[in-house]
Amino acid sequence: MPANETTAFGAVGGADAVRALIDRFYDLMDLEPAYAGIRALHPSSLDGSRDKLYMFLSGWLGGPDLYQQRFGHPRLRARHLPYAIGIAERDQWMACMEQAMQECGLDTALQERLAAAFANTADWMRNKGG
Ligand code: HEM
Repeated sequence: MPANETTAFGAVGGADAVRALIDRFYDLMDLEPAYAGIRALHPSSLDGSRDKLYMFLSGWLGGPDLYQQRFGHPRLRARHLPYAIGIAERDQWMACMEQAMQECGLDTALQERLAAAFANTADWMRNKGG
């Protein structure tokens, strides 16, 4: 799909740019002590997590709905129930994504728009107090 500015997928820069964002997100999760809390919830290899988040975000940003085609309805909240997610985990996820967007050089207004949308979804994943 060519980069099409009318979707967030296009505004980010298309498939390769979305993949680069996800790769940076999980690289940072691996590298930065500040994200060790959420890193510990993930499997030792992040390869599957990278693929799934890429496929999901492709559709969520208005590009090809790869996740749904492969796995059906995301049921995102239900799929996160095995992991204890509170305010600290939500905030680490957001900080990691915001750092990845910054380092990938996304346009500032786009970063803000996406951060607001991510924040809603991340908050909805909370399944424990604190
Ligand atoms: C709020 C903090 C969050 C934490 C701590 C968290 C953590 C996790 C963990 C541990 C997994 C399992 C990884 C694996 O099986 O490889 C996962 C899967 C996933 N997460 Fe999150 N997540 C959070 C928020 C989000 C948000 C905001 C999104 C979307 C915008 C998202 C999208 C996904 C997707 C698509 C999967 C794969 C689901 C599957 O098919 O099993 N997550 N997450």
